[in-house]
Amino acid sequence: MNICVLGAGTIGLSWLRRFVAHGHQVLVCDPRPDLTDIVAGLPLTEDERARVRVVPDREAALAEADLIQESGPEHLAFKRELIADFARHGKADAWWFSSSSALLPSDMTAEASDDVAARVAIGHPFNPPHLMPLVEVVPGQRTAAATLDSARAFYTSLGMEPAVLHREVPGFVGNRLQKALWAEAFGLVLDGVVSVEDLDTVMKNSLGLRFACVGIVEAAAMGGGAAGVQGLMDLLRESFAKIELNDLDWSNEALAPLYEAAAAAYGAPVDPARITRRDELLTGMLRVRGQLD
Ligand SMILES: NC(=O)c1ccc[n+]([C@@H]2O[C@H](COP(=O)([O-])OP(=O)(O)OC[C@H]3O[C@@H](n4cnc5c(N)ncnc54)[C@H](O)[C@@H]3O)[C@@H](O)[C@H]2O)c1
Repeated sequence: MNICVLGAGTIGLSWLRRFVAHGHQVLVCDPRPDLTDIVAGLPLTEDERARVRVVPDREAALAEADLIQESGPEHLAFKRELIADFARHGKADAWWFSSSSALLPSDMTAEASDDVAARVAIGHPFNPPHLMPLVEVVPGQRTAAATLDSARAFYTSLGMEPAVLHREVPGFVGNRLQKALWAEAFGLVLDGVVSVEDLDTVMKNSLGLRFACVGIVEAAAMGGGAAGVQGLMDLLRESFAKIELNDLDWSNEALAPLYEAAAAAYGAPVDPARITRRDELLTGMLRVRGQLD
């Protein structure tokens, strides 16, 4: 399949690696002046590299693609402009999957025809998509059921585990969960309850480890004994009712002490050795789970 990687930043370049690893031809399109050098520096095999073409001309790239994985800047007006171009120059049966983290597909396609909107959906990965198995497939109000079926089949063929939402909702599922956790975690640090390092010790050695193995409902079902999830709720309801959750102030002024503490703990930018270690651990975990080709 000819896949257009539209937007070659953090996410687009990582998608590129997954696409070529699964035998696809990739057209990579981005106005960044260093595009050729950046692509040349990617850790690809010779065979993979032979299937990558840098196509700076958006119209030409869209005209050739069977599927577009759009990973451009997270601005609604920009995404609409790209979809308008897709309508003008794209193949009549091509699919458009957007990596957007939180924009709704119905908003992105508000100015598009029914035919185009039917072929647009969110294909939201977690960073980095060449390693992380999840992709959230999210329909807009006019997305065709066949597009969702194709998205599920496509991402599964790449060794990913797609979750197909029944309807669009801001933040989809993963980022709604992340927002709730951030609000609580950042609030605990800002309130002086715990250091950044100890907060992350809690995360990595309890919830993080558990949820790498079982799902959140699955874990609750296991924790509740014979009565399942209700057993756990009956056990914890009273004490959990007393926990008041944080209503986080998301402004930079309020979050500044957290930024400082994070920079002191992990470096700013984060020490590259930590990123290498993250990828080693991720790779090891994926291998144990049988999710690495
Ligand atoms: N960074 C993450 O952790 C993450 C995770 C999941 C999804 N996303 C989503 O992926 C998308 C891209 O995010 P990112 O982090 O890779 O951003 P990024 O800033 O690293 O990359 C965006 C790229 O788009 C390019 N671009 C600008 N104008 C363009 C145009 N006209 N045509 C094609 N490309 C153009 C930029 O040059 C840049 O290389 C966003 O929608 C974001 O919400 C990001």
